[in-house]
Amino acid sequence: MSDSAKSFYLTTPIYYVNDAPHIGHAYTTVAGDFLTRWHRQKGESVWYLTGTDEHGQKVMRTAEANGAQPQDWCDRLVESAWKPVWKHLEIAYDDFIRTTEPRHTERVQKFLQGLMEKGFIYEGNYEGPYCVGCEEFKLPGDLDEGKCKIHSKPVELVKETNWFFKLSEFVPKLIDHYKNNPSACEPESARNEVVSFLEGGVSDLSISRSTFNWGIKVPWDSKQVVYVWFDALLNYATAVGLTDAKGTSGGEKFGKTWPADVHLVGKDILRFHAVIWPAMLMAGGLPVPKKVFAHGWLLVGGEKMSKSKLTGIAPADITSHFGVDAFRYYFMRAIPFGSDGSFSWEDMSARYTSELANDFGNLASRLTAMIEKYCGGILPARSESKELATSLANTVQTADKAICNLDFQSGINAVMEFCKEVNGYVTAKEPWAVAKDESRKSELEAILYNTAESLRALSILLHPIMPIATKKLWSYLGAQDSLGEIEKQKISEVSKWGQLLPGTKISKGEILFPRLETDRDGRSS
Ligand code: MSP
Repeated sequence: MSDSAKSFYLTTPIYYVNDAPHIGHAYTTVAGDFLTRWHRQKGESVWYLTGTDEHGQKVMRTAEANGAQPQDWCDRLVESAWKPVWKHLEIAYDDFIRTTEPRHTERVQKFLQGLMEKGFIYEGNYEGPYCVGCEEFKLPGDLDEGKCKIHSKPVELVKETNWFFKLSEFVPKLIDHYKNNPSACEPESARNEVVSFLEGGVSDLSISRSTFNWGIKVPWDSKQVVYVWFDALLNYATAVGLTDAKGTSGGEKFGKTWPADVHLVGKDILRFHAVIWPAMLMAGGLPVPKKVFAHGWLLVGGEKMSKSKLTGIAPADITSHFGVDAFRYYFMRAIPFGSDGSFSWEDMSARYTSELANDFGNLASRLTAMIEKYCGGILPARSESKELATSLANTVQTADKAICNLDFQSGINAVMEFCKEVNGYVTAKEPWAVAKDESRKSELEAILYNTAESLRALSILLHPIMPIATKKLWSYLGAQDSLGEIEKQKISEVSKWGQLLPGTKISKGEILFPRLETDRDGRSS
């Protein structure tokens, strides 16, 4: 990989720090982590950005309600809630941007000044409904009896003299962009929604507010702060050096990262990302993101799970019972990325037991126990099952294609199908029966080596989604010493059969996915 190669650049939305993260926020962040870990294992240079959205009335009012200054409130929440949760969930981000950092605020001001100088900003009067929950100027169709459809709360009437961005000028260009580059907005349903929204006509956008001051100052008008979404969207570019001159480190970083390859967003914030954001970039003379992908919602009782509706579930409520790996696995495996999905404790317990404890965990325990029992804990001589090797090669191809297309469910399914096949191989070969006959020793060793090799491949392929268990298995297989760190194993090399070194000490280790305890409510098995 050359140093000048463009990085695969992926972002999550930056989250409002009005509260601690819930599993809806974790859903996007885990998806991004899974995809970036996969790309890293493809040997690509990767940049994974997440962060927090700290300005605006929503955060300001929450801080006030808690008797805190907004900045203190944000500092406290970021350090005590957001960063620790991402650490707990094994999120390997490369950068975490906070919109109150000078590296962001200064670049926002510079970018905005540039748009002003180019004539894309003008002064005007805004009058209309605003939802503080969404931090959005609403259109009549967005409301249900005066309430925001997403938050089910009454909207507020805003009447201010503000600065406007000439968004409407970019409508024809945006329509062309999506017609010519269908992969720029996915899934297809999201793209259709964006195109029909654009075709319905879009007004210019008020990009400043004058009735409160928790925001970035408009550089030429100190009585106004930048509208929080205009500020927030820019994070994707300010974090990698937007507006920095060529030849500076920021300028170089920008050249290596921009445009973003994928912005992962929930479907509720699609229009901001697929209409306003590319128009801002077009106005600034910059390339637009290669893809905006809108995923669905985690539902509770058929509605979007959210803290404001008191249906928010903290990730720890689930990980304390199932563990972090199972949490990461479940949401990517059970819900097609792009569709809504209901979280169900029962479904999660069922998949944990059948797919993780039985199919994967048990295969690992069986193999390590048999190598201990029949081979004194030493990996026997190399062997190659043509069937398993061919099937593995196909699995890698299918999984790679699906995962790179953000079809995480199919990608994981393909790997788990291979896992089932290996289980079937062990069951059919009956090594425990073969072991009874000393003259069939080499047959027994072949079965065990082939199973160990399959587990080597499974650990690598499942590492991006379950980093903890696969790392353990990697060390039980003795692969750390002979093959190096699991993170360094390349997807393109996985199906090269015979990599585990005969003679390596295999250890039994602990059970990867222990049987679930029944909790007080009698849930799970
Ligand atoms: N701050 C803005 C984003 C600015 S990005 C330039 C914001 N923040 S948020 O904290 O309200 O939401 C962040 C993300 O979490 C959104 O993509 C949203 O869709 C996602 N989710 C919030 N609740 C969710 C579910 N119940 N299910 C899945 N994702 C959900 O919007």
